[in-house]
Amino acid sequence: MMSTIFITGANKGIGFALAEELLKKNFRVIVGARDLKRGSDAVKILSTFGEVHLQLIDVADLESIRRAAQDVAKNFGDLTMLINNAGIAGDMHKTAWDFSAQELIEVYMTDFIGAFELTKNLLPLLEKNHGRIVNITMPTNATEFFHPLAYQAAKAPMNIMIDNFGFEFAQKKMSAQIFGLMPGVVSTDLNNHIQGAHVKSPSQSAKQMTEIILDNRNLNGQIIDVDKF
Ligand SMILES: NC(=O)c1ccc[n+]([C@@H]2O[C@H](COP(=O)([O-])OP(=O)(O)OC[C@H]3O[C@@H](n4cnc5c(N)ncnc54)[C@H](OP(=O)(O)O)[C@@H]3O)[C@@H](O)[C@H]2O)c1
Repeated sequence: MMSTIFITGANKGIGFALAEELLKKNFRVIVGARDLKRGSDAVKILSTFGEVHLQLIDVADLESIRRAAQDVAKNFGDLTMLINNAGIAGDMHKTAWDFSAQELIEVYMTDFIGAFELTKNLLPLLEKNHGRIVNITMPTNATEFFHPLAYQAAKAPMNIMIDNFGFEFAQKKMSAQIFGLMPGVVSTDLNNHIQGAHVKSPSQSAKQMTEIILDNRNLNGQIIDVDKF
């Protein structure tokens, strides 16, 4: 039986590749995009793989998130998965104390508050459908080659959300599951199409993540390094 998956930021990059993979697995996919033209263009390409719909959503705007959640709940009562994928990185090369507070707020709104608010708004429906909430995330410790303050400071609370929601889902014996996937390094617009030995293409990464997303194991509360699954 076909069920519906909502992916935010699915007009390009990892989100687009995930949409393609999941359509090929016979799911109905709702492509979340903040821009009508970019969203429609993506949906047109994706429609060759299956049943795909466009939902406008700006995850940095609470009103837009609430409207989108209402539309999705009204039109797709069989929603079984939300993939919080939309994200920005901010400046990835700046020294920590050169960021302005405003830059930190922008990335935090998009990467954390957006995912939190959308999850909260769709939780009743996802709980009813024994659904899954998947968050595309990453490690937040500073390393020699990777220590972007705004980006890591916005993904850290997303990781805390996965842990906290997961804990409470289990405590309250809820049927919904929440987990995080850390894809490793994927060559996209977000990192100016970084190249290197361990860098994946969006399509490689999406294939790897789809296997985990569709695995039957209970992954609630976990943050999974996809290369170690
Ligand atoms: N690439 C990596 O190596 C990597 C590693 C770990 C985690 N991730 C995570 O994976 C996710 C996808 O990243 P990506 O590499 O595929 O980046 P990407 O190619 O830049 O795609 C990001 C997507 O998010 C959308 N987006 C950004 N801000 C938005 C907003 N306010 N409202 C709605 N949509 C918004 C973008 O839409 P527009 O086209 O309108 O900008 C685009 O569709 C992000 O959460 C990122 O942090 C990526």
